[in-house]
Amino acid sequence: MSVRYGVQDGVAAVELARPERKNAITAEMYGQLADALAAAAADASVRAVVIHGTPAVFSAGNDIQDFLERPPVSDDASTVRFMRALAAQELPVVAAVNGAAVGIGATLLLHCDLVYCADDAMFSRPFVNLGLCPEFASSLLLPLAAGYHKAAEKLLFGEPISAEEALEMGLVNRLLPPGEVLEHAMRQARRFCALPPAAVRATKRLLKAAWRGAVDGAMGAEMALFRELLSSAESREAFRAFLERRKPDFSRTGAAGERS
Ligand code: COA
Repeated sequence: MSVRYGVQDGVAAVELARPERKNAITAEMYGQLADALAAAAADASVRAVVIHGTPAVFSAGNDIQDFLERPPVSDDASTVRFMRALAAQELPVVAAVNGAAVGIGATLLLHCDLVYCADDAMFSRPFVNLGLCPEFASSLLLPLAAGYHKAAEKLLFGEPISAEEALEMGLVNRLLPPGEVLEHAMRQARRFCALPPAAVRATKRLLKAAWRGAVDGAMGAEMALFRELLSSAESREAFRAFLERRKPDFSRTGAAGERS
């Protein structure tokens, strides 16, 4: 299993465990992640969820090969199932980030309640660079957290965000030495075990209430454009270049996105 799930002392830990592929996520793994969140929500002993990767990397995002073979174009795709389950999760979700969090690996953090990262972590949402657009409400949640202009700079250029910048942008709660991130996240998660669970759930629901509808709307609008762009010449060139280990060439893709 490339996703590990375990419960200890009231905390459900969900681990992305595919380090040989930098924890890139396949359709099968999204299914396992969705099942893990459902298991946590159904377990009365669980008071919080911790999502983490391996010591060197959080996640390289979609497994590109798998993504191209099984693009998540339907609403019942496991990717959609997982991200909707995360956005709707009633338990507090704490993320521990070591190394890189790329693409959906960075997007999912916007739906977590607390994010702790290593002082050398790196966040990147290279949707534009892949000929795609933001997904799963990142076009809404990033400007909400960081302000429009900062979010525009990051999403329009697909620029990486360092750990320090992520802290300044309000995207993470605290930076820690790499070896202490997971331990700190687990400690924070365990604090929920001493708090009244219904009050915690109600508070989380209220914190997100103002933009819950907007999140659903953004997800729908992004998904429609994402599907369209997925079959464009731009994204075909970007993914081909990734697989061929070369720089993409967008000089011959026209305004309509088709290669002449
Ligand atoms: N999908 C599939 N395979 C991936 C992958 C992905 N998203 N990300 C990394 N890998 C593979 C690499 O192809 C490489 O395979 P190899 O050992 O057969 O050569 C292996 O994982 C190690 O990756 P590498 O790039 O050498 O590691 P790194 O430490 O230098 O860099 C990252 C790590 C995460 C910064 C870098 O791999 C990266 O940017 N990956 C692409 C992420 C991306 O564009 N994601 C968006 C997907 S929509």
